[in-house]
Amino acid sequence: MKYTIKNICCIGAGYVGGPTMSVIASKCPNINVNVVDINKEKIKSWNDLNLENLPIYEPGLKEIINKCRGKNLFFSSDIETNISSADMIFISVNTPTKKKGLGAGEASDLKWVEASARQVAKFASGHTIVVEKSTLPVKTAEVIMNILEASQPVGEFKKKSFDVLSNPEFLSEGSAIQDLENPNRVLIGGENINAILALSNIYMKWVPKNKILHTNIWSSELAKLTANAFLAQRISSINSIGVLCEATGADVREVARAIGTDNRIGSKFLDAGPGFGGSCFKKDILNLVYLSKYFGLPEVANFWESVVTLNNWHQHRISNLIVKKLFGTITGKKICILGFAFKANTNDTRESAAISICKDLLDEGAFLSIHDPKVSSKQIEIDLNSAPLSTSTDSLEILNLNIVESSWYFADNIIDSIEGADAIVVLTEWPEYSSLDWGKIARSVRNPCCVFDARSILKKEDVIKSGLNFWKIGDGSKSKK
Ligand code: NAD
Ligand code: UGA
Repeated sequence: MKYTIKNICCIGAGYVGGPTMSVIASKCPNINVNVVDINKEKIKSWNDLNLENLPIYEPGLKEIINKCRGKNLFFSSDIETNISSADMIFISVNTPTKKKGLGAGEASDLKWVEASARQVAKFASGHTIVVEKSTLPVKTAEVIMNILEASQPVGEFKKKSFDVLSNPEFLSEGSAIQDLENPNRVLIGGENINAILALSNIYMKWVPKNKILHTNIWSSELAKLTANAFLAQRISSINSIGVLCEATGADVREVARAIGTDNRIGSKFLDAGPGFGGSCFKKDILNLVYLSKYFGLPEVANFWESVVTLNNWHQHRISNLIVKKLFGTITGKKICILGFAFKANTNDTRESAAISICKDLLDEGAFLSIHDPKVSSKQIEIDLNSAPLSTSTDSLEILNLNIVESSWYFADNIIDSIEGADAIVVLTEWPEYSSLDWGKIARSVRNPCCVFDARSILKKEDVIKSGLNFWKIGDGSKSKK
């Protein structure tokens, strides 16, 4: 039986649900797309008339919201009604690492997925295609199907029926709209070809047919975890080589260029940095580690675990290095942090390297001024679990005297944040940091001041010419001051 999709419901209005459904709505004007969430504040922000107040920042997102919201794209807290009218339901809820119980620290916590499946089981009507959009451990589709099936009355005529498909999302934050509009591939795993075709037909409105891959459901679930594990592995690999470069006089950018021209290796994802962040790499690898252990494969588990271990070590390495370069103590010293998001073009800070590096520096007694063009002071306060100092004009004067220990303030102006600093640390590759006036900066810092470029975006010659000390990730060449 062929299925026609007129109403979509997406459970979860987060970084994936919001942008993905916005793009589907914009490409499929004949389908009604309803995005629901238990978080009423978030839904309120998605409906805010001021598009600057959307809950997430993604280039190109507000234009799509402006075009589709209220026409065929709706954000709502009415989960029941929207599930019951949907022909297709995307589950796009969070799947963080479990904090307690069996598999704590490794396995994914599926309580939000389970709750979504129960909501679907309760409120769905007729035939519903349930699509796993969240990243899930292999075999989760079986759990979802069990929950859906258990909602059917035993021995009576079944009023509801379901198909479960896996359709993992591969978008990257900061380029989500671009990735959704022009994906490398769309992956659909499932058993019922009619359900698979119903979902393929939606994507075929804008994605070429040869980019839509069909697999069995377990391959699809596992392919998502594998893709993230391979990407993260490349970053740990290049960061490990960067450390060797620093020790030997090589330059990691030159090494990356040399190996990246081999088309078996490729040039992407070879930028050394402060360590990968983001909500998914770590949790998805740990999930793979858990699965490997569960299936009795300790060697496989150890291999993937080492990618995370290297990343954790690397982040602490950077904070230790800052302390060492500042003569072994940073108590009361002012360190200016440029960038708190886990990468540029997003306001997301989940697992950002900046969190662990700033925590380490605060533990060592530093006084931090933190700047980020998109991350709010409130978010940094939550991440650091520490309230900022006030930055009224009077107190700024005191703050710049380098006498405040283990504390931080939010700087909404780059130049003010640098004033009186003993060190400047670039942690996110925001474009505005690459064109700073180093001559001017050198006159407002406290000398000797050291600039740490953990993203390799500054012009070394400019910084050195201004008289500041300079350290760049993976740069072992001797021309440093
Ligand atoms: P998120 O935390 O931004 O959003 C999830 C939303 O689901 C939250 O707003 C939460 O309130 C809502 N929610 C949870 N349980 C609910 C329920 N029972 N009913 C209604 N709403 C509910 O998470 P995210 O970053 O969008 O990630 C979602 C999934 O997509 C995860 O599995 C993640 O691994 C995967 N993924 C994320 C990205 C990314 O770039 N963030 C990319 C690809 C895949
Ligand atoms: C990543 C994947 O790229 C997406 O395909 C996937 O859908 C997503 O995870 C997910 O499942 O959540 P994302 O985390 O948004 O996307 O961003 P990336 O561009 O992959 O960057 C991740 C981290 O690696 C960032 O901290 C980034 O700065 C770092 N990175 C990336 C490097 O240090 N070097 C690089 O060369 C590339």
